[in-house]
Amino acid sequence: MTETTVRKAIVTGASAGIGAVYARKLAERGYDLIAVARNAERLEANASRIREETGRAVEVVVADLSKSSEVLKLAARIAEDATIAFLLNNAGISLQGGVLQNSLADAEDLIAVNITAPTLLSIAAAKAFGERGGGTVVNISSVTAFVPEMFDRAYSGSKNYLINLTVSLAGSTKDAGVRFQAVLPGPTDTDLWARGQVPESIVPRSMIMSPEDLVEAALVGLDRGEVLTLPTVADESVWAAYETSRLALRSSLAAGQPAQRYRQPAK
Ligand SMILES: NC(=O)c1ccc[n+]([C@@H]2O[C@H](COP(=O)([O-])OP(=O)(O)OC[C@H]3O[C@@H](n4cnc5c(N)ncnc54)[C@H](OP(=O)(O)O)[C@@H]3O)[C@@H](O)[C@H]2O)c1
Repeated sequence: MTETTVRKAIVTGASAGIGAVYARKLAERGYDLIAVARNAERLEANASRIREETGRAVEVVVADLSKSSEVLKLAARIAEDATIAFLLNNAGISLQGGVLQNSLADAEDLIAVNITAPTLLSIAAAKAFGERGGGTVVNISSVTAFVPEMFDRAYSGSKNYLINLTVSLAGSTKDAGVRFQAVLPGPTDTDLWARGQVPESIVPRSMIMSPEDLVEAALVGLDRGEVLTLPTVADESVWAAYETSRLALRSSLAAGQPAQRYRQPAK
């Protein structure tokens, strides 16, 4: 393969869980990888497995995406390296308990990793890929985006934010050949669950999908041209009804005057 035909994928959180599986699957699809995470040892172990199994080149970048200086370095790399054609914003954290049980610094970290980093990298990729005539950005959201009453509010909010970001950027970059997809995993068998952050009484084991099945389904969704992929939702009509309701709401969001129920009763 010549230098000009090399296509690289950046995978954040490539050292474990969903990101580690995605990295391998993208290498199997012919991408060389730039694998990003904090833990150099785990990252290098996964990278060398992928090199051995797929023969693709894997560069390891040790970076803490809660630090904006490190995110900006990665964003600059996306802008400068014309072989980068795929960005997977997978790195994400949740808090044991919720925002009220943790410090403000923990909440700040969650916002930095789950919101700031994927936002800056998505923007950098949208611009760079648009100028290069194409590319793909995948943001890993979560089904918790739809159930803030059940899970940590800041976590589910961060995942809902990613849906909005993705749908909005998908619309504004489509004509430039840039694809955006948000993947909404349900419970998936990774360290997140091994750490016991969600008790079995809330989510039984039978509801937890393997990361291999999740990533395989997400890639099928990508091949289907989906902007939002919900691998656990069997009945597509449920999602279609949700979208229909959302669009119905859209038509009444700008009215110029308050709805009748918000008017002071006549004296
Ligand atoms: N598992 C689920 O049930 C589930 C469901 C819905 C959505 N998700 C989402 O899927 C994504 C992957 O989660 P997972 O379950 O695979 O979690 P995981 O097993 O805990 O893996 C998280 C990955 O992100 C990296 N990471 C964490 N903080 C980082 C930081 N500050 N800078 C750089 N890398 C960082 C970790 O590597 P280092 O520790 O080496 O940095 C690791 O590679 C997350 O966005 C998560 O919210 C998961």
